[in-house]
Amino acid sequence: MKIRYSCVTCGRTLDVDEVVYECPHCAHEAAAHDAASEFPRGCLSVPFMPANAYRKGDKAEVLSFLPLPVTRWPSFPAGDTPLVQPARLRRKTGFRELWLKNDTLNMSGSLKDRASLLVAEQALAHGETRVVLASTGNAGASMACVGAAYGLEVILFVPAAAPRAKLLQSLLFGARVVPVQGTYDDAFGLSIAFTRTFGGINRNTAFNPFTVEGKKTVSLEIYNQLGGRAPDVVYVPTGDGVIFSGACKGFADLMAAGLIDSMPLMVVVQAEGSNAIALSWRKGHETVIPRTSTIADSLSVCRPAAGTMALGFLRRGAGRAVEVTEAEIRDAQADLAREAGLFVEPSSAVGWAGVLKDRAQVDPGARIVVLLTGTGFKDTAAAEKLVSMPASCAPDLQSAVQLLSDIYGIRGLGA
Ligand SMILES: Cc1ncc(COP(=O)(O)O)c(C=O)c1O
Repeated sequence: MKIRYSCVTCGRTLDVDEVVYECPHCAHEAAAHDAASEFPRGCLSVPFMPANAYRKGDKAEVLSFLPLPVTRWPSFPAGDTPLVQPARLRRKTGFRELWLKNDTLNMSGSLKDRASLLVAEQALAHGETRVVLASTGNAGASMACVGAAYGLEVILFVPAAAPRAKLLQSLLFGARVVPVQGTYDDAFGLSIAFTRTFGGINRNTAFNPFTVEGKKTVSLEIYNQLGGRAPDVVYVPTGDGVIFSGACKGFADLMAAGLIDSMPLMVVVQAEGSNAIALSWRKGHETVIPRTSTIADSLSVCRPAAGTMALGFLRRGAGRAVEVTEAEIRDAQADLAREAGLFVEPSSAVGWAGVLKDRAQVDPGARIVVLLTGTGFKDTAAAEKLVSMPASCAPDLQSAVQLLSDIYGIRGLGA
């Protein structure tokens, strides 16, 4: 099946049957000079050609927006996640139309399942049984999860320091996990070298253009859940910029289908200690960073794989970038847990931290959507920094009352 791609760097188009990752022209250019100071070259996008005739406000048929038929969605129902209306956070912030897209409820616990599903379909379509990737943890666990449902071999290169539960989860799903003594950027390069040498489909985020395509479904669902309307503002926790680009692409495709008239304001939110895209946006040119340092480990990226695409959306006027501190990330994680009942990992809390930081800039009546991208259950070590486990008490009422008084300050229970 022929698919049309267009290069986000040089704009050339490519119509091909085979699996393709890079624009041949830009890959050649990158090889010819030292690309270490720039974002990766030759990222491909898939232009959307609407198959359905829509009228404004119609429900979008999500799967018909994808470049490949999804044949096994019932065995791996990625997406279709709830749009939560957090009453207490609405009251606290004064944002009357605040919504949280709870993508932690995907099968593997993160938004990545949307991309992994499409890559699994790509493997089926091309008769491949092996998928290779690098990950900070969630994409790997996600591909391993879909791999189990589809019967694919998954080879996963991951920094050895990734949260243990994400590695255990991947192993349990049957992935061949290769912990790498190095950064995510090291694992990324290694996984590409492995695919080039030994074959299989490479699922690296952005490198495989279908990852952006898969992730765009989050915006199509939001549009449907809001009753055929786009939000005014969307906050996206960002590392490589693929979730951000995917979310932008989803709204751009809704415009191409004639379902909405304009893009929402799309906000990249990054940790100050891993801010390559935000920094590039501020400086006005692509800037890689030498190292990262943040509790938001899933966002730790020096050379963002979809940086060019994400900056492209920002520059076309679709949005802006916000940076948050480590303390703000921790506070946001606690806030979501204590005032909305949502347990997310620190990287995912970054989106909410962005809303709090941006509060003065946003109209209280605006329709605001925050993407919650990954569950907190995979990183209990991070949660342990927010709470401490009380010492146990004897199994009698007096001891329990004493503990409630000593630890939580609850008085008046007698004893
Ligand atoms: C939970 C979570 N949120 C956000 C992101 C950032 O996505 P991207 O790297 O596409 O910007 C990731 C990436 O691993 C993630 O795991």
